[in-house]
Amino acid sequence: MKGRLALVTGGVGDLGTAICRHLYHQGAKIIAADKIASDIANQWQQEQKNQGYDFQVMPVDITEFDSCASMITELVKKHGPLAILVNNAGINRDAQLYKMTPEQWLAVINTDLNGLFNVTRNVIEHMIQEKYGRIISISSVNGLKGQFGQTNYAAAKAGIIGFTKSLALETARFGITVNAIAPGYIESRMVAAIPEKVKQIIIDEIPMKRLAKPEEIAAAVAFLASESSGYITGAHLDVTGGLYMS
Ligand code: CAA
Repeated sequence: MKGRLALVTGGVGDLGTAICRHLYHQGAKIIAADKIASDIANQWQQEQKNQGYDFQVMPVDITEFDSCASMITELVKKHGPLAILVNNAGINRDAQLYKMTPEQWLAVINTDLNGLFNVTRNVIEHMIQEKYGRIISISSVNGLKGQFGQTNYAAAKAGIIGFTKSLALETARFGITVNAIAPGYIESRMVAAIPEKVKQIIIDEIPMKRLAKPEEIAAAVAFLASESSGYITGAHLDVTGGLYMS
């Protein structure tokens, strides 16, 4: 993927940073798109630079179609064709359904599922024109198996898999592959926020008895983003420590 341009949404987060780094090591030029304030983005960019990573950062709100459209227009104008899209941005608002508010439902669906549409819809025509593309979207083990307290998140993450398979059918003839990764529980701020007692029960259920390191998910993303994965499309690669086997 040497010299190819990669866009990573949620690029500034724990998993996003690991993905940016892995793709950078493979020779890609990285644009990290994120909703965070510009001072935090600048600080992150500088920290990465201090560790030898040269990343561009672009502000975007993936829940807004127009925000995605203008970001992608600007990006293509400035940097040329986009070869790799990693749909990584996502949030959770866990609650049992009988306590879940419409706001908790909509926040997750708007970011994790509608955000996937808003970004990919604005990228796809460029990739079709270039007759090349790698789209990798971050689903979740919980989109495959369900999870207590995650009707909203599991619905969105299962939706990502249906979206992936359908888009893979539409774009295979243009040299574009579309795949998903279903990570298990990662050492991240999202997992750190789970109540300690519940987290311990979850770790006990994982055959490997540990959380994933963000780098272990990023390595799978980098594989699907590489030229050598060109015959894989419409797949989901499960990186769950054995928590779910499909
Ligand atoms: N299975 C069955 N029962 C469960 C359960 C489970 N997994 N989790 C909780 N319960 C039970 C509890 O034992 C409790 O029962 P009792 O009342 O009889 O004691 C009852 O449900 C209520 O539990 P809580 O007090 O925890 O209920 P709550 O409403 O306060 O909180 C919750 C519910 C928010 C879902 C909380 O349990 C929680 O945060 N769970 C973790 C959810 C989770 O896995 N989130 C993943 C975040 S990371 C991520 O999403 C990334 C990814 O892709 C993997």
